[in-house]
Amino acid sequence: MLPPSRKTITKPAPADFKAVEVKPDSLAFSLLGAAQAVAYVLEGTALPQALAKVFAQNNASPQARGAIQDISYRTMRQVGQADALLTAMTSKAPEPALLYGLLCCALTLIIKVGDEDLPYEPFVVVDQAVTAASSNPHMAHAKGMVNAILRRFLREQDELTITVLKQPAALWNYPQWWVDQCKAAYPKDWQAILRSGNLPPPLTLRVNRRQNSVADYLRVLEAQQVAATQIGPDAIRLAKPVPVHQIPGFDRGHASVQDAAAQMAAPLLDVANGMRVLDACAAPGGKTGHLLESADLQLTALDSDPKRLTRIQENLDRLGLSATLKTGDASKTNWWDGQLFDRILADVPCTASGIVRRHPDIRWLRRKSDATQLAALSARILDNLWAMLKPEGKLLLVTCSIWPMESEGQAAAFAKRHQAIRLDAPGQLLPTSDGNNDHDGLFYALFQKPAA
Ligand SMILES: C[S@@+](CC[C@H](N)C(=O)[O-])C[C@H]1O[C@@H](n2cnc3c(N)ncnc32)[C@H](O)[C@@H]1O
Repeated sequence: MLPPSRKTITKPAPADFKAVEVKPDSLAFSLLGAAQAVAYVLEGTALPQALAKVFAQNNASPQARGAIQDISYRTMRQVGQADALLTAMTSKAPEPALLYGLLCCALTLIIKVGDEDLPYEPFVVVDQAVTAASSNPHMAHAKGMVNAILRRFLREQDELTITVLKQPAALWNYPQWWVDQCKAAYPKDWQAILRSGNLPPPLTLRVNRRQNSVADYLRVLEAQQVAATQIGPDAIRLAKPVPVHQIPGFDRGHASVQDAAAQMAAPLLDVANGMRVLDACAAPGGKTGHLLESADLQLTALDSDPKRLTRIQENLDRLGLSATLKTGDASKTNWWDGQLFDRILADVPCTASGIVRRHPDIRWLRRKSDATQLAALSARILDNLWAMLKPEGKLLLVTCSIWPMESEGQAAAFAKRHQAIRLDAPGQLLPTSDGNNDHDGLFYALFQKPAA
């Protein structure tokens, strides 16, 4: 399948290389940026970090950044098919990874998906991909090949597509093991799950009830001609995504971006004023903010990653809320003051297999064995946290995974180990992009500690 790890640049530039100029507002420029981002992902970097690296290097305008981001995300959703097409049209995978990335990005822009209009004219994409290759010392040698492959695809699209779509990885745009695992876990729903993971997510907001009611905030949106619908107690979905800082009142903390399924955590924990609450894997603080919007709490937000902890602080500052922030490992006790908690939120680290529509790179970055390792870490975290909970206190296990080993398997084994009482909770929410019922794939299990 995809080349596992190749260095982006393999050879020094030839001495006689003469660069072809690429205008910063051209598609060639955006293709180059996106190809670089895709190459970084193939080397193991997550797409948001890959894009940050590209933007730091290429000084792109806001428009060019938008185009680079759009092409990279599209490519991550199509790379199974693009890769299979390249395999069908070439005798070996194009090198370096940057060239492979460029071809995947260009193919993604000219592959027809259902009834969707193509974002650019195919002949413009071919021309600009050739310009992009010509402009780069490590790809200029292959400009003829780029031209030939893309033109061949346009000529033979129907036959090539029929052939490659026989491979599940090309048809679904997930690694074969992912398709197999999904089918085994969800014999009825696997196709809908995989399809939903390939759709761009909606922009869902959580209204900060401390600042305004949902009805008031909907009126603000209407006055600013932002079409939106209420889809949960605090959840509003915008008809069309907009950049975060253009969300009315966002910078003043009137609303936050949070998926509808993620908004179920705070109500399930059923918090009341004065409670001692631990948010054990808290960064970037989406659920921390919601808990603090729900009641006046003595909340400790813990995360093992100090950099991500600063994101919690930024979010709380924006919302005008406060908590005690601690860097620490939730599977250890060295950060704990010994006082028991009334409520614990354990949003444990997981494969994130339920949020691939937001992070389409995850499927290509994960290995099949990751779920086993992450489930073992999460079990240690849960066992450790249980000792920190008051009798009759509640612990909510959350994962953004659809793999049973990380979700129901984990919850059942935990309840058995500790004789924990299981309370009502949604269990496995499968990801869906279906009208108003539109949310990520999360898992919820709620436990109560028996009275002392
Ligand atoms: C799913 S994310 C949490 C999302 C967060 N609850 C929210 O709603 O915004 C999981 C978090 O667990 C943190 N983490 C991973 N291992 C940890 C550990 N052993 N102890 C504490 N935090 C950990 C990661 O740094 C990551 O921020």
